[in-house]
Amino acid sequence: MKFFIDTANLEEIKEAHALGILDGVTTNPSLMAREGISGEENVLNHYKAICEIVDGDVSAEVIATDFEGIIKEGEALAALDSKIVVKVPIIKEGLKAIRYFSDKGIRTNCTLIFSAGQALLAAKAGATYVSPFVGRLDDIGTEGLGLIEQIVGIFGNYGFSTEVLAASLRSPKHILECAEVGADVITAPLKPIEALLNHPLTDKGLAAFLADHQRVNS
Ligand code: E4P
Repeated sequence: MKFFIDTANLEEIKEAHALGILDGVTTNPSLMAREGISGEENVLNHYKAICEIVDGDVSAEVIATDFEGIIKEGEALAALDSKIVVKVPIIKEGLKAIRYFSDKGIRTNCTLIFSAGQALLAAKAGATYVSPFVGRLDDIGTEGLGLIEQIVGIFGNYGFSTEVLAASLRSPKHILECAEVGADVITAPLKPIEALLNHPLTDKGLAAFLADHQRVNS
């Protein structure tokens, strides 16, 4: 299973990279705005800076919602670095663009997936990844994890090469549950990823080991 970090914050990306577990980065326009990145040149430079840190895929989202605009933006993003994966929303024009990019060898991450039908269409169009949003489904009282399980099952039935990238994960429990149902990739902020490290018995055991060592070595 691949681990991506869901942020546009360079320090957090460096921190996750230093952990030795990072396979890629996902961003979206809200995450870029949170870092105060605006203007075409700054946005492109920020993606270049992310690509310099990470050894893996970097999802960069288009803003355009018409076919021509998505193609223009996506081609400019893809030209930045071979690590760039063009993130495209699951709308009609987006689907057409995913087919176009796929035929040109440009990799895509189809985002804002909230149903198995959307994921199936994206896979048919040749998306490299689909991003079902678990947390946002949980937010409205449905069970986001069920969607991951359903899409993993459908893709498995037909041998689609499209990878299921579980997104909108907010807790270590979310990450583990997605691993249990066979998500190919998880993307989450740094905090829930680091929280996977925590266990009180580890802390207690380490404190005892260090105290015993100190007792006979002082
Ligand atoms: C997916 O790629 C999105 O960037 C992200 O996971 C959305 O998460 P949120 O619902 O916590 O904003």
